[in-house]
Amino acid sequence: MATIRDVAKLAGVSLGTVSKVINGVDSVRPKLAKRVAAAMEALDYHPNQVARSLKVRRTQTIGVLVSDVANPFFTGVMRGIEGEARSHGYSVIFCDSNEDPDLERTNLDTLFARRVDGALIIPTNAHTAEQHLVRRRFPLVFIDRIPPSFNGSAVVADNFGAAEEATRHFIGLGHKRISIITGTLTLSNGLDRLEGFRKALQQAGLPLHDEYLQQGDFLLESGYRCGLKLLQHPVPPTAILCCSNQMTLGLMRAMREMSISCPDRVSILGFDDFDWAENVNPRLTTVAQPMMEMGKQAMQMLLRRITSIHEGVYGEEEKVVLKTELRVRDSTAPPLEVLDPAPHEV
Ligand code: RIB
Repeated sequence: MATIRDVAKLAGVSLGTVSKVINGVDSVRPKLAKRVAAAMEALDYHPNQVARSLKVRRTQTIGVLVSDVANPFFTGVMRGIEGEARSHGYSVIFCDSNEDPDLERTNLDTLFARRVDGALIIPTNAHTAEQHLVRRRFPLVFIDRIPPSFNGSAVVADNFGAAEEATRHFIGLGHKRISIITGTLTLSNGLDRLEGFRKALQQAGLPLHDEYLQQGDFLLESGYRCGLKLLQHPVPPTAILCCSNQMTLGLMRAMREMSISCPDRVSILGFDDFDWAENVNPRLTTVAQPMMEMGKQAMQMLLRRITSIHEGVYGEEEKVVLKTELRVRDSTAPPLEVLDPAPHEV
C-alpha cells in the first residue's frame, strides 16, 4: 500500500507539502497541489483518517440524529446537511431514531464512541439528545424542532408565522369554522404552529371551539384519527389546518372513507410540500418549508461551533429562523355558505 513518502517522491515535493494538501491548507501553490493530487491518484493513496484523527483530535466527521429518515421532509434537510459537509471536507454519520427515544439514546452513544466533532439533532419528542449533550459542552445544533427548555444553537422554520398566514388564508376565503390538527406540542414547531393558528383566529374575532383543536403527533395515524373526529362532529369545520405531511395523508384517508369532498365540503391545508402535493386530486395547498436551506445553514452553524469550541471559547449560541412559503393550489376554496348564501344548518 502506498505511503505518504511514495506520494512525495512521485510528486517531487516534501512530506510537509503532501501533508498540507491532505489537510486542505491553502498556502500550497496550485501547481504543486495538482502534482500531489495526481500522485495520490496514480498510487491509489488514501490518507489514514484514523491516525490523523488521533493526532489532531478531530475526525472531520459529524453525526446527524434524524427522528425519522423515512419522512421526505427530513430527506430534504439531510441533503442540505450532506452537501455543505462535503464542501468543507467533512464526512457525515446519519442515525435514524425512527421516532423511538431509546434508539435515539443508543445512536447518541454511538456518535460519541465514533468521536464525531459535532452533532446536528432533529430530536424525537423525548428530549434525550438535550439531556445527553448540553451538559457536555459538545458542539451541537438542533434543527426543525427543539425541546421547549433548550435555548442553544438551532435552525428552525418560522412555524408561528407560517400557521398564522395559513389560517389567514382560510379566513380570507370566508371560513368561520376553522380547525387544526396539531403536531407534537412538546416540540417547538408543534407548539408554534398552534399559537400562530390561535393568533390569526383571535385577530379575526373567530372562536376556537375545543373540539376543533385536535392534538396529533406529526404521524399519519394521528392525522387519520383526528380527521375522523373533526369530520364526524355534529357541526363539522369547513376548514382544517393539518400540521405535517404525514398527518395530511391520514386526514385525506379519513375524508375519502367518509366520502367528504375537498374543497366543496371541507378545505384542507397541510404543512410540508412534496411532489405528491401537485399530483393528488385536488392538488394540495401547503406550507412549504426550506428543507435544504435548513440543513445547509445548520451545518454552517455547527462548523462555527466546532471551530470556536476547539479554540477554547464556547462562543455565542445562535438561532436562525427561516421563512416558509404558502403554496395555494386547489384544496382550499370558499365555504359553501359563501358560494351559495342560502340558509345552512350551522
Ligand atoms: O412530518 C414532518 C413534519 O415534522 C414537518 O412539518 C417538520 O417540521 C417535522 O418536524
